Order: sequence, then structure tokens, then C-alpha cells
Amino acid sequence: MNLLLGVNIDHVATLRQARYSGMVDSPNAEPSPVEAAEDALAGGADSITIHVRGDRRHMQEVDAYRVKQATNLPLNFEMGNTQEMIDIALKLKPDFVCLVPETREEVTTEGGLDVAGLYDSLEPTVKTLQAAGVQISMFIDPNVEQVEASANIGAEMVELHTGCFANAHTDEARELEITRLKQSAIAGHNFKLQVNAGHGINYENIHFLNAVPHLAEFNIGHTIVARAMRVGLTQAVREMKELMKAYSPNPI
Ligand code: PXP
Repeated sequence: MNLLLGVNIDHVATLRQARYSGMVDSPNAEPSPVEAAEDALAGGADSITIHVRGDRRHMQEVDAYRVKQATNLPLNFEMGNTQEMIDIALKLKPDFVCLVPETREEVTTEGGLDVAGLYDSLEPTVKTLQAAGVQISMFIDPNVEQVEASANIGAEMVELHTGCFANAHTDEARELEITRLKQSAIAGHNFKLQVNAGHGINYENIHFLNAVPHLAEFNIGHTIVARAMRVGLTQAVREMKELMKAYSPNPI
């Protein structure tokens, strides 16, 4: 199976909110997340990711409903483990929920979810959403203990946090991060989890991930939206998909 690309379009809403905060329904409110999802689809996106944060700094709840309605692409709803977000997810019924840690101060999601440590508070959320037909992914640091906890809690997927990999700028540091990703991907595969990866992947560093086995999907946002400024979103997605063709789930 080919490596899939989930396109995170949160930063399309970041730009809109910079001017039109509180005015999502204004005819001037641009750029449009729905149009972005359509453009990503045209470029070969396999799914769309939207993160409605507690502070609504980019995507608004209404964006999630509109994007879901407008495209046939699977929707991956990223959310913190709060009752407010559970209620939204139950109304939205996305194909997937990716549970992420969320604090107000962070610029973006900065660390993986501590599934092992937060097991008791996460388990009811996993069960509630699965009962509504939603598949669950856990966004975790590349750590075998967290992979095992994700399998035990009954998640279908893990998304390995590639932020440390992306910030490793020496060969040695990068090798270390690739090793952690490899070990976690192998553990995930052995636990029969779908193994995804995301955060900080860009057009320059993506090829290093060809060394990591068993990956099913990348979730990529920032670099694609940034590249879209130069070439448009459809072309930016197309270029990323092209780079992903070099991946084989069983690297030698
Ligand atoms: N996966 C998760 C769980 C994220 O929180 C984010 C960032 O919102 C991404 C993937 C995409 O990261 P980036 O925007 O750096 O590509």
C-alpha cells in the first residue's frame, strides 16, 4: 500500500483569523478552508486534518463541519481530550480522531500525548468515540512504552511525533531520532497498529524518513501551506506526493 498524505490545513485558517477573527461568515473572510480542502484534493491529498483548539486560534467548529460536508476526503479531527471536543467530535463524526495534548501557551502541538500516564482519563474518550464509529489515533513521542499503551487502550493508530527528528540538524542527532522512530514503528506494527507520522516534516527532510519501516500515512501542514504561497496549494500537495513515492514500507 502506498504511503498516504493527510494535509493539515489549519494554517489556512490561521491566515484568515489574522484579519477576520469573529467574522468567519463575512463574505470577505479569506482564505477559505473549504477551498483549501478542495485544492488539496485536486493535488492528491488522501485525507484532510483539522485541529479545532480550545482557544480557537485557527480552525473554528463551523470550519470542520463545512470541510466535512464539502469534500469526500476522509476527515482527521485533531483534538485535546476535553468534554467540549468530545461533544464536537460526536456531532461531526469524522473518520478519524487524533488525540493530542494541548496547552494554551504552545505555538503548535509540542509534545506527544502521555498515553501511559493519562490512561484512565483517555480510555473513556477512546471508547466513546469508537462507539460512534470513529477510529482513534494517538499522537505520541516515538517511544515504545507509549506505543504499547496506545495498543492496550484500543487505539487503531498511532501518529509518531516527528518534531524532534525535524529539529535534529546534525547527522548524529538525526540518526538518534530515526532510530527511535524505527523502534516505535516496528513496535506499532507488531501490535497491529496503523503507524502514521507527523509534525515538522518538510520537502527537505522527508527523504530521511524512508529509513523508517511500516509507515502508513504522513500528516503534513506547515510546509505545504508555506509552499502554496509560491506554487498554489494543489501544486504544493502534488510535489509532496511525488516525494512520498520514494517510500517503501519495508526499507532494506
Ligand atoms: N500532526 C499533529 C498531531 C499536529 O499537531 C500537527 C501540527 O498541527 C501536524 C501533524 C502537522 O505538523 P506540521 O504543520 O509541522 O506539518
